[in-house]
Amino acid sequence: MSKVTALLSLLLFKELLALSGNFWHITDLHWDGTYNLTNHPEYICASSGNRPATDAGKFGHYVCDSPWSLINSSVYAMKAILPDPDFIVWTGDDTPHVPNEDLGEEEVLHIISTLTHLLNEVFPDTKVYSALGNHDYHPKNQLPAAPNRIYDQIADLWRDWLDPESRETFKKGGYYTEKLLNQTGLRMIVLNTNLYYDQNDLTKGMYDPAGQFSWMDQVLRDAANNNEKVYIVGHIPPGFFEKKRNKAWFTPKFNKIYLDLIQNYHSVILGQFFGHHHTDSFRMFYNSEGSPISTMFLGPGVTPWKTTLPGVKNGANNPGIRAVEYDAETLQVKDIVTYYLNLSRANAARAGWEKEYRLTESFRVPDASPASMHQVLKRIANEHCYLQKYYEFNSVSYDLTECGADCRVDHVCAAREVDFDKYKSCLADGGATAMHGGLIPMILFAIAIWSLH
Ligand SMILES: *[C@@H]1O[C@H](CO)[C@@H](O)[C@H](O)[C@H]1NC(C)=O
Ligand SMILES: *[C@@H]1O[C@H](CO)[C@@H](O)[C@H](O)[C@H]1NC(C)=O
Ligand SMILES: *[C@@H]1O[C@H](CO)[C@@H](O)[C@H](O)[C@H]1NC(C)=O
Ligand SMILES: *[C@@H]1O[C@H](CO)[C@@H](O)[C@H](O)[C@H]1NC(C)=O
Ligand SMILES: [Zn+2]
Ligand SMILES: [Zn+2]
Repeated sequence: MSKVTALLSLLLFKELLALSGNFWHITDLHWDGTYNLTNHPEYICASSGNRPATDAGKFGHYVCDSPWSLINSSVYAMKAILPDPDFIVWTGDDTPHVPNEDLGEEEVLHIISTLTHLLNEVFPDTKVYSALGNHDYHPKNQLPAAPNRIYDQIADLWRDWLDPESRETFKKGGYYTEKLLNQTGLRMIVLNTNLYYDQNDLTKGMYDPAGQFSWMDQVLRDAANNNEKVYIVGHIPPGFFEKKRNKAWFTPKFNKIYLDLIQNYHSVILGQFFGHHHTDSFRMFYNSEGSPISTMFLGPGVTPWKTTLPGVKNGANNPGIRAVEYDAETLQVKDIVTYYLNLSRANAARAGWEKEYRLTESFRVPDASPASMHQVLKRIANEHCYLQKYYEFNSVSYDLTECGADCRVDHVCAAREVDFDKYKSCLADGGATAMHGGLIPMILFAIAIWSLH
């Protein structure tokens, strides 16, 4: 290599380095302050609902929400792995899975405040974009479409993270937008999608709770006019739960409106980051021609809590956190590295957090763009070894059993179709349509060649 090419490649390398940024995404910490190892297995934690926590250890148990040592360990692991991220995305659910009577408004606020302080203490100079979860309210799931004391108090707790204008919209509806890291051309939208949850009795009959949809439409329209690049962050995702067939969270009407907004403004939306499932998954969005236009990344939870949702088998997970690598100018998502704590090993052998996988490595794609994520989905749908890998990552390497034919359809259709009707037809055709890979383009190519004769 000549000196000139060496210099040029050095310059190029520096350029690439300058453009690449990273941020943490953490979600679903669900702190259970009652976790106490000295008790009988059925009473180790309130969140187990009397399921026995046999062999429970310092960092928690799969039938329990997070003890403090796990919460603390996850935030310090972030600090040890990537101490200076550009920002942190925190997508909610801080309180334990216990009956409303065991919490109350003050306790919910106390828990949110304690977690906020921990993040502030460990990352004092880092901007945090923080979304409300359905458990960040009392009573749970009933987040109002109007100002209330809890939104008000949380806006105060998060004052260091919110611009003055964000504070105002947050107090009204639990949502906000601001320039990403105060940079012109980049934007963050933090949503309160708990308003669209079918368990939320306060918003069920409403057309546009807290005016969030019309606000989002305006924010995205302005972003498009100003050539901005946007990330969208929220807790409850649209579409279906991949671990339970036909289980959606949004009402049909709200699901449709959300999907329409993404389809209308996909050209400025470079990524969506959500939680709530506690699993590691993603959702694809397509235009009317079937081309991939956007991806929603669902981050794994810190809590290992085994869900009590009827019909889900062995629905626990190892605690997970993830670092997102992105292009700091275009907001293109480059890669995602997920770290985890093998909970049983951590308890038994004091093992620590380790890398679980790097997306581009494990699924052999160049980046995490919608086109690449569509490739990932095709590999999962068509090749068992990728399906199995995805399936093990889905529970953060907790459930290592075989993902069979039904399991494949559940996961492929949930990832592929956010739209309710299209999801149903996906189930009906066994997750086959549009997953043919090169077949349709190949036929079109053959026709084109033929017509040249
Ligand atoms: C755990 O439970 C024991 C026995 O009930 C009690 O003495 C102890 O104070 C509890 N520890 C904590 C940290 O709450
Ligand atoms: C939190 O974790 C840090 C780093 O491992 C440790 O030094 C500290 O003692 C922990 N604090 C608690 C309360 O567990
Ligand atoms: C954001 O940028 C504007 C204009 O460059 C500046 O006036 C303002 O102080 C910045 N705000 C923060 C919080 O850095
Ligand atoms: C987690 O640790 C347990 C106990 O040491 C072990 O059996 C299991 O294979 C580990 N899981 C992974 C994914 O390494
Ligand atoms: Zn949760
Ligand atoms: Zn949730």
